[in-house]
Amino acid sequence: MKTMARTAIKQALKANQSAEICVKGWVRSVRRGKGVSFIALNDGSSFDSLQLVLAPDLANYDQISRVGTGACISVVGTLSESPAAGQKWELQVFEAEVIGAADDSYPLQKKRHTLEFLRTIAHLRPRSNTFGAVFRMRSALSFAVHKFFQERGFLYVQTPIVTANDCEGAGEMFRVSTLDAAKPPQQNGDVDWSQDFFGERTGLTVSGQLQAELFATAFSDVYTFGPTFRAENSNTSRHAAEFWMIEPEIAFADLAADCRLGEDFLRYMVSYALEHCQEDLAFFNQRIEKGLLDKLEALAKAEFKTITYTEAVELLQKAKQKFEFQVEWGCDLQSEHERYLTEQVFNGPVFVTDYPKQIKAFYMRLNDDQKTVAAMDLLVPRVGEIIGGSQREERFDVLHARMDECGVPQKHLDWYLDIRRWGSCPHAGFGLGFERLLMYVTGMENIRDVIPFPRTPGNAHF
Ligand code: 4AD
Ligand code: MG
Repeated sequence: MKTMARTAIKQALKANQSAEICVKGWVRSVRRGKGVSFIALNDGSSFDSLQLVLAPDLANYDQISRVGTGACISVVGTLSESPAAGQKWELQVFEAEVIGAADDSYPLQKKRHTLEFLRTIAHLRPRSNTFGAVFRMRSALSFAVHKFFQERGFLYVQTPIVTANDCEGAGEMFRVSTLDAAKPPQQNGDVDWSQDFFGERTGLTVSGQLQAELFATAFSDVYTFGPTFRAENSNTSRHAAEFWMIEPEIAFADLAADCRLGEDFLRYMVSYALEHCQEDLAFFNQRIEKGLLDKLEALAKAEFKTITYTEAVELLQKAKQKFEFQVEWGCDLQSEHERYLTEQVFNGPVFVTDYPKQIKAFYMRLNDDQKTVAAMDLLVPRVGEIIGGSQREERFDVLHARMDECGVPQKHLDWYLDIRRWGSCPHAGFGLGFERLLMYVTGMENIRDVIPFPRTPGNAHF
């Protein structure tokens, strides 16, 4: 076979003149005709496959025209204008080689599969139309995250994955330990963590926020973008045990500035997708969520509403809709409440601010009413909470007292208190769940379908 550089199918489909090229990829379908045969070849570079035209004078025509769906092949041919509707180019093949064969036990045959079935073959689903589109979108938006913050002069900080601190205080950390699980050393009737690898009890981080705050009090504007882990046993379509979070932290900023940053960021992500991922979005719009494009275009222009938690509770109490959970001032909002607010009342994104202190984390800044904290959640239709953030408590004494109140041991967080001791300043930040963003932008309804290899209770196989 001729040695020739490989052309990505995306490039081939965009060609503006006929050319001799080599393409490699995986067979999506084979159609054997009387005269010629057709193969749809996809290499993941674009949603569309390239149509290969095989004529019987091809040396190994019999082998190639009988190749199985899923096989990996390499071909050389001439790009020529296609008479078929919906495609500009096809490839008249004059050399072909099977790189990796596939027989008919290959699970991704032509018929449409359910997303549930595709989850059971997470190792093969990237080769399907839907997951090709999802993971191209994931890659594009990852890049856009960095682009947004770098363009604004933010410093990218990699916060640790192993940590001794439960930032959210919800007790959902996965343990990291090298102690003998069957017989850990004991002291005073408890495990003696001082003998563990790090000399104290450690786990996988639930958030990079606390360390990001340290960097914000040195570099002013910073962000993290990395994996976070939560051992919450909630089997919902919006929770994963391992997910990626984007956490900006800004010095000299209050809650209002934090909300503006969140709004600008979400708008930027959506605009980026609209501009750079048109082909995949067209597919999502047609097959996954009808009206998705209109929704995204509306969001790119929408005014984000802001209400306080107290106003939200009043709206929910006045609602005609029956909720499974009754709403009272002081209770946490359930996803049914969040969705009612964003879908029924505002029909768009809404910030809910100033939550009761007892349902929020210790680090949020106490408001003058002494009852609420300067917190914000951004709610969007269908997904619910997409951002959670706050202004941070920068006053040493108040933070100290809040830690006591919340039962947060100070000996673990002496370093966190130190930045309030020396050169403290008002600062704020938020966390945006990257998978929730992807669900919003693609219309996919289950978080398991926007992560390459989802980790949920009972699932870490692939
Ligand atoms: O609201 P959360 O718990 O906030 C924090 O972790 C703060 N430390 C962030 C900060 O201020 N720097 O989580 C932030 C976001 C949520 O709004 C949601 O989008 C996502 O992270 N999230 C999850 N996504 C998937 N699976 C889970 N189990 C998630 N838990 C939170
Ligand atoms: Mg939250």
